Amino acid sequence: MRKRNKGQQKQRAMLPPGSMGWPCVGETLQLYSQDPNDFFTHKQTRYGNIFKTHILGCPCVMLASPEAARFVLVTHAHLFKPTYPKSKEKMIGPFALFFHQGNYHTNLRKLVQSSFAPEAVRKLVPGIEAIAISALESWASTGGQAIHTFHEMKKFSFEVGILSIFGHLDGKYMEELKENYCILDKGYNSFPTNFPGTAYNKAILARRRLGELVSEIICERREKDLLVKKDLLGHLLNFKNEEGQTLSEDQISDNIIGVLFAAQDTTASVLTWILKYLHDDQKLLEAVKDPIFEVRILGPEMSGPSLDRGRGRGYLIPKGWKVMPLFRTIHHNPEFFVDPQNFDPSRFEVWSSI
Ligand code: HEM
Repeated sequence: MRKRNKGQQKQRAMLPPGSMGWPCVGETLQLYSQDPNDFFTHKQTRYGNIFKTHILGCPCVMLASPEAARFVLVTHAHLFKPTYPKSKEKMIGPFALFFHQGNYHTNLRKLVQSSFAPEAVRKLVPGIEAIAISALESWASTGGQAIHTFHEMKKFSFEVGILSIFGHLDGKYMEELKENYCILDKGYNSFPTNFPGTAYNKAILARRRLGELVSEIICERREKDLLVKKDLLGHLLNFKNEEGQTLSEDQISDNIIGVLFAAQDTTASVLTWILKYLHDDQKLLEAVKDPIFEVRILGPEMSGPSLDRGRGRGYLIPKGWKVMPLFRTIHHNPEFFVDPQNFDPSRFEVWSSI
């Protein structure tokens, strides 16, 4: 008994510093009741670049240094596997590729990648152009009223997402997909309390309806003999694994909602920042108008040795804990990037040339 206590003390001593909050809820309420940046910056100032906390029912280790992020993502990636909170898994759909490893994940990742390969996207260009023109016309018709750029970019990326997933879709489906997806999106980051009336509960119900809508679209495609279509839905419907097994309707709809989700906010925020900085920086605007402007894939932004306390031994990360690199905190730390709040695309040039 005494021996075990000693062992437990040793284990506790090696955990990173930090606080675990209340039993079960941990520090979830603190995180949800303030700006997440303030929450993490406060912790970092108090405990350093590696700290523990307890969020959404999971004990976590947060990493706010490039070295620690590199440890879990690059040098020791084989010791970790990607996971999401159960509440998010339920919201997107448990068969979405993000939540899997192994063959199922590899196959679906290849399938999604091939549906968005340059040759596939090239065919979508006229459709995307029509969506862009319609968006521009709707902004022009507001009579000089301000528009909320991020909201507009979200509408735009949603419509492009729908086009690449389903091809040209009947208006009745489009409206219902939009309406329910919007409710899902609002509830995604809400506190996961599944009582009638909460944003989370509304999102779960909307998610159910989205699944039904995808089933109706599949049914119509089968009836009209349109299974040969080459959009993402077509690829998913025609998929067969090494054993000749096809995907179930749940697997298809979870992956469709998953891709829509992966593609919408990410693309909308990149478009919003692009618009802002092109507007703010005339030189940059001229540079991108230059026909020899080259789009480069940026290299890694992290460097350094392994997860370490700085001096002495490393920290213990118990099995089952979540480990989260805080990319935003790292990118905004003046220790790693000079004047981090200032937009300076050239800061990555050193990496892209390595
Ligand atoms: C600028 C826009 C985007 C950003 C910043 C972005 C960012 C990311 C990040 C950070 C990941 C996690 C990578 C990993 O854990 O390995 C990811 C995964 C993923 N993204 Fe994107 N993404 C963007 C656009 C898109 C679009 C347009 C699609 C739709 C086709 C998409 C589909 C996916 C999928 C399917 C995954 C999961 C990959 C996997 O689990 O293997 N993303 N994205």
